Formats: sequence, C-alpha cells, structure tokens
Amino acid sequence: MAEHPSLWDLAHRRRSVRQVLPAAVSDETIERILEIARWTPSSYNSQPWHIVVVRERLAELWDVIEAAGRQARAGRPVEKFLERLNGYRGASAVFFIFLDRAIVDEQVRITTYAPAERVESWARESVGMLQYALWLAVVDAGLAASLHHFDSEEEAICRFLEIPYPRFRLMGTMPVGLPAHEVPVPGRRPLNEIASFERWHPPAADAS
Ligand SMILES: Cc1cc2nc3c(=O)[nH]c(=O)nc-3n(C[C@H](O)[C@H](O)[C@H](O)COP(=O)(O)O)c2cc1C
Repeated sequence: MAEHPSLWDLAHRRRSVRQVLPAAVSDETIERILEIARWTPSSYNSQPWHIVVVRERLAELWDVIEAAGRQARAGRPVEKFLERLNGYRGASAVFFIFLDRAIVDEQVRITTYAPAERVESWARESVGMLQYALWLAVVDAGLAASLHHFDSEEEAICRFLEIPYPRFRLMGTMPVGLPAHEVPVPGRRPLNEIASFERWHPPAADAS
C-alpha cells in the first residue's frame, strides 16, 4: 500500500486546479473530506458554516449558474466566465461553502467585549480555515480542486440548492475532480520576507 502523504506533501501538492475531469468519488471519500472539515477550528467554536455537496444534479446546476452569469454580465464580455465554468463542468463533486448568518448574528449579539466587526471577521476567518481544511482533505483523497466565488450567481445557486438566502451566504465553491492538465506551480514569497525570528527585521540583502 502506498505510504500516506504527510502534511508537508499535501501542503506542497495542493494547487488551484481550475480545469477538472471526472473522477470516481465514493460516498466514503466525501464523508472523509467532510469529517476532516468538521474538525476545523472556529471562533467560539461556533462552526458558522454549512456545506452543500452536489454530485447528482451538477449538469443542471452548471446550466443554472451559466444562465445567471450571462444575465449578470448582460452587455459585458462573458468569455472568461464561460471558460472558467467549462473547466468546472468536468467535476464529479462540488462543495458549496456557506456562512450561516444566524450563527454569526447570535454570536455578535451575545459578545459584549468585542465589536461586531471583529466577531464578524472571526467568523469569516473561520470559514477560510474550513476551506483550506476541505482543500487539503480533497488532495489527501488523491483529487484536485480550486476555490471560486460566484457572487453574481449566488442567489440563483441558493434557489437551486433550496438553501435559505440571505440567512446563508455563499462564501466559496470548490469543484472537485482530477486535473485536466498539469498546473504550473505559482511562486511564493521567500521565507525571510514573510517571517522574522524574535523581532521583526527586513529581509536580509541577497548574499549571492
Ligand atoms: C480567499 C481566496 C480566494 C480565492 N478566490 C479565487 C477565485 O475566485 N477564483 C480562482 O480561480 N482562484 C481563487 N483563489 C485561488 C488563488 O488564486 C490561488 O490560491 C493562488 O493563485 C495560488 O495558487 P495555488 O492555489 O495553486 O497555490 C482564491 C484563493 C483564496 C485563498
């Protein structure tokens, strides 16, 4: 049996894969991904999220999203949007990640020592962590994903998924499949630019 990938491997292997092909994604795989996501930390352990996983209704859903996207862009170029969408159409499963405003609003209401904007921000940071946990779990399952924001299409998606809007706000969409082609590795800022030790210092001059 192949050795299980380490966190190091997963973190380096994860890419934004925006063109995917169908993959065998079993119920067990979906459950494992969701179980990993369930253990994401959140402010006050409020877990202010809901994830809708779509596998069976994807063809219809992409058409709904395309129609909403075309309508929102009436008179404006639609090619880039369609290109992205076509890349997602090969997905075997799509995770729609929602912020549950009912949970956030209640947290804002009962928190007396921090202003509403901070409580709001902590909830959104929590969803960011959830998204990364999902993403790593997808890679751990031997699959690939990307993170897309369907802002103009949000209400159409909510209607299709029958999820109450605006109680739930769509924070991100992750289409999952196999990479359609190799994705170039985007660079990262060097370590000495993003971290300091003991106290802040500017990046050392290049010694080479
Ligand atoms: C909060 C957040 C929002 C993002 N939004 C989008 C998006 O709407 N569309 C998209 O194609 N990629 C989106 N990305 C992916 C980034 O472009 C990508 O992570 C970055 O370019 C680095 O590439 P890598 O993920 O392959 O390492 C987003 C990433 C994050 C963390």
